[in-house]
Amino acid sequence: MARILLGVTGGIASYKSVWLARLLTQAGHEVDVVMSRAAREFVGAITFEAVTGRPVHTQLLDAGHALDHIKLARAADALVVAPATAEFLAKAAGGHADDLLTACLLAATCPVLVVPAMNDRMWAHPQVAQNVAHLRALGYAILEPAVGPLAQGEGSGAGRLPEPEVIAARVARLVAPASALRGRHVVVTAGPTREAVDPVRFVSNHSTGKMGVAIAEAAWRRGAEVTLIAGPMSAPVGAWLPVVPVETTQEMADAVRAALPRADVLVMAAAPADFRPVEPAAQKIKKGAAPRPIELTPTPDILLTTRADRRPGSVIVGFALETTDVLASARRKLEVKSLDLVVANDATEPGAGFGHDTNRVTLVTAEGEVALPLLAKPAVAEAILDEVEARLARQGAS
Ligand SMILES: Cc1cc2nc3c(=O)[nH]c(=O)nc-3n(C[C@H](O)[C@H](O)[C@H](O)COP(=O)(O)O)c2cc1C
Repeated sequence: MARILLGVTGGIASYKSVWLARLLTQAGHEVDVVMSRAAREFVGAITFEAVTGRPVHTQLLDAGHALDHIKLARAADALVVAPATAEFLAKAAGGHADDLLTACLLAATCPVLVVPAMNDRMWAHPQVAQNVAHLRALGYAILEPAVGPLAQGEGSGAGRLPEPEVIAARVARLVAPASALRGRHVVVTAGPTREAVDPVRFVSNHSTGKMGVAIAEAAWRRGAEVTLIAGPMSAPVGAWLPVVPVETTQEMADAVRAALPRADVLVMAAAPADFRPVEPAAQKIKKGAAPRPIELTPTPDILLTTRADRRPGSVIVGFALETTDVLASARRKLEVKSLDLVVANDATEPGAGFGHDTNRVTLVTAEGEVALPLLAKPAVAEAILDEVEARLARQGAS
């Protein structure tokens, strides 16, 4: 895990930095907080100390703190300033070093993430825009303010600090180990699809989307550009992930086909409905009118019907969730659908498959099978992506 230097400056949103410090600490990072003098008017240093379990740093020129700025900057794997006030942006753009945080910024050689937050009119000021542009040119990553409610009585606009979860996700990406997925485009499908019986009823399945979301989030952390094609699912999705929402299997197939020409990797973790009613009723079927048997017809097979749209050298991963003959059908799927990897799991196994936070899978490739133990879905996602990275390197997608 990494050592994060968290700079907190004197904005109203500094109360959210406490939650950010907690999220980063919970993720296993060592978090050293540096507060500006103004920040200490908004939040007590003792709060950060209690949340991070580490001393908070505030002084540049006091006895006993000589060279704190050099030591803190040298130890950091990433420096994050959240919130970054307009004043901080101006000082940083000007190369000032008259307090501990700005001195650390100049002494740091690690990646820097700056998260500005201020009133919308301040954010729109050309001087602020110029300072931000200059910081970008210096190589600092800028996470732009969100649009939404501002401080009490200030209405709504661009200037709000992004939610701490969003900032923590960016930090995770910043400190992730080098990955072959960095800069690659990874398309992930997740969740079920729905096929209408009538305007209010549908055929679907129990997929929650947890596995697909775990893969999309892990790929994003590894530095990939991610497109998550999501059916109507219950799993929460990080606000930082671009989502293409779809409803039916045909819509999911269309979205996959549209994404494939740019995709280095496709992971089909969704559970599209395999059947659809032949003739969905145009009006709601009345409760009293017992429906005739609903005639079903197969939906398009997404991996088969989009095969021609794949880029040469791309890595294609399918899932095989079965209740019988799991490995045999995974091997068949690998071949028939020209896949590089099939993630096989048994829906009847305790703790595996739909809805659970864990999964027990076997990775099936042309070279053989690797059975993984029961793992949390994020850990399964990492194992799948390790295999994807190895194959990407071998297949030389460019
Ligand atoms: C109640 C209050 C809220 C403030 N909120 C912000 C803010 O959200 N963003 C900002 O850039 N400045 C804000 N300021 C102004 C800064 O506190 C001020 O510019 C200060 O000098 C920043 O110093 P620092 O960047 O060293 O922490 C606020 C001031 C007050 C009194």
